[in-house]
Amino acid sequence: MCGIVGYIGKQKASAIILEGLKRLEYRGYDSAGLAVQQNGRFGLVKKVGRVDNLIAQAAKARLTGTTGIGHTRWATHGGVTDANAHPHLSSDGKFALIHNGVIENYVSIKKFLLTKGYTFQSETDTEVLCNLIAYHYAKETEEEGTSRFLTSVRKTLHHAEGTYGIATMCTDCPAEIVAARKGSPLILGVGDNEYLLASDVSALISRTQNVVYLKDREIVHITARNFSISTLDQEDVAPVIDTVTWRVEDSDLGSSAHFMEKEIFEQPAALENTMRGRFSEDQSTANFGGLNLPPFEFRQIDRIHFCACGSAWHACLVTEHLIERFARMPVEVDYSSEFRYRNSPLPASTLFFIISQSGETIDSLAALREAKRKGYKVLTMVNVVGSTIAREADGGVYQHVGPEIGVASTKAFTSQLLLGAMLALYFARMRDMSYSDGVEYVQALKMAPELVRKVLEQAPHIREIARRYAHYKDFLFLGRLSLFPVALEGALKLKEISYIHAEGYPAAEMKHGPIALISEQCPSVFFAPAGEMFSKLVSSMQEIKARRGRIIAIVTEGCELPPGLADELILIPPCHEAVLPIVATVPVQLLSYYIAVELCRDVDKPRNLAKSVTVE
Ligand code: AGP
Repeated sequence: MCGIVGYIGKQKASAIILEGLKRLEYRGYDSAGLAVQQNGRFGLVKKVGRVDNLIAQAAKARLTGTTGIGHTRWATHGGVTDANAHPHLSSDGKFALIHNGVIENYVSIKKFLLTKGYTFQSETDTEVLCNLIAYHYAKETEEEGTSRFLTSVRKTLHHAEGTYGIATMCTDCPAEIVAARKGSPLILGVGDNEYLLASDVSALISRTQNVVYLKDREIVHITARNFSISTLDQEDVAPVIDTVTWRVEDSDLGSSAHFMEKEIFEQPAALENTMRGRFSEDQSTANFGGLNLPPFEFRQIDRIHFCACGSAWHACLVTEHLIERFARMPVEVDYSSEFRYRNSPLPASTLFFIISQSGETIDSLAALREAKRKGYKVLTMVNVVGSTIAREADGGVYQHVGPEIGVASTKAFTSQLLLGAMLALYFARMRDMSYSDGVEYVQALKMAPELVRKVLEQAPHIREIARRYAHYKDFLFLGRLSLFPVALEGALKLKEISYIHAEGYPAAEMKHGPIALISEQCPSVFFAPAGEMFSKLVSSMQEIKARRGRIIAIVTEGCELPPGLADELILIPPCHEAVLPIVATVPVQLLSYYIAVELCRDVDKPRNLAKSVTVE
């Protein structure tokens, strides 16, 4: 998704903006640019490619201004070209604009502006927005006590349909920035005699940890000395300044080769942070401060509906299994993008849950709003504090795993699995689970970090397997019950970072079609944990072997496979069934990571992908 950075202060804006854009790279993009105010005009540099290209170009441009905006573009309207990169300038040269989102009525606005003599250099909706601001500005007159600049932006946004996070500058107001949001995240950083704007905190925490999370339909007008927030309808908004707990080093690569590697190996600590302070005094259930779900209210709930996208959706599927297993409550899981249009008939006694690492995924935000519009209580599981989904929910739990920079979700995913297991415990203990079963369950959850450490010790072994399998073009991932969603997650990991085709299936489903794919050219990653299904899983593996399919088996220590059945064996430690999905996920994270490295893929910023999908 696009990234936005803005700066007003006493320092040279370009260096601060470029550093911020570097920290937003993980969001996914294909071009970048910046503009600074200088000598009554804009110093503008924008290029296709990486921020490092932009840095090299900017060094030649002598950008000395102390007010500026910068952008990383993930193309929606218009191809990947220098001309389509942001910032865009109005054709009268008065305005510079950057934008994250989609303006749905840009074609009609563009036609109108063409009749007014405005010209266009790009194919983007953003340039249309920029010229519309110029149009309103040209019609405005300066009135005492109001800002012609701010009024022009406000009038423009009343015309715009769709989503936006924008920041704009005007050459008549060289030390001002106006920014606004609707559907795309935007955060104001309040520094020491300086202000910053960013799409997420990672771009500004090196300069301040005091932030204001702008809400939809809010506009912020920033000058060198202060800022004011108002709504599109001109109501003043009293800013709430939050303090970000993340540190800048949390977003640093450290000694790892990639953020994905760092975040895979951070998982034991991330799981400890997820659990910290969240078990009851008597250690028999979970405690969630912000869930806002008192027991008497929970008693009225008799079913739970989850919505999410991607890996978070896989986490919902695992959680569904655990809640139904331990709390004996029916659970339904929907893709957010499907739920928002399906108009499902749901009983009033439904509790909604949205899971989203970024808290900005537009489909999950829309699902949240759809559920709330229908009067359901909506709770969330989110990692990014202060994100839109977290703020619009009726309550929820934060994951507390720190920034996840790699586009492929790893520590956030296993943290969601752990929180899902804790929710299952919380609900079960408010229903029929006994005190002693609760204590045993809590003890099992507390083992998760150590069990993950044990699996991580197999990284060299898994890397060797990856080297042997990196050349295959197709994979199947097969698991049952709570490991079927983990099979889906393994397939997604491999697809998204190595670009290899992979599919996840319930293991017993093989016979209903997918087994036709089995050959020596299509290996299977097979989850075969200890338990009642083990013998059936062995039978499924034998069906694959009989058709010369190669098998990478992930098996609980102590479980014996028939000799020669598995071509590769990855052992996982015995564990409670609530922790099994977490432990079983780590081998497939490592396998996909090492295969992608073997193939020299852009592991942290895979092609076409974004960390947070804030456009439909
Ligand atoms: C997972 O590896 C992907 N990056 C993607 O599927 C992601 O899980 C999905 O876009 C949902 O993101 P969210 O959790 O921030 O809502």
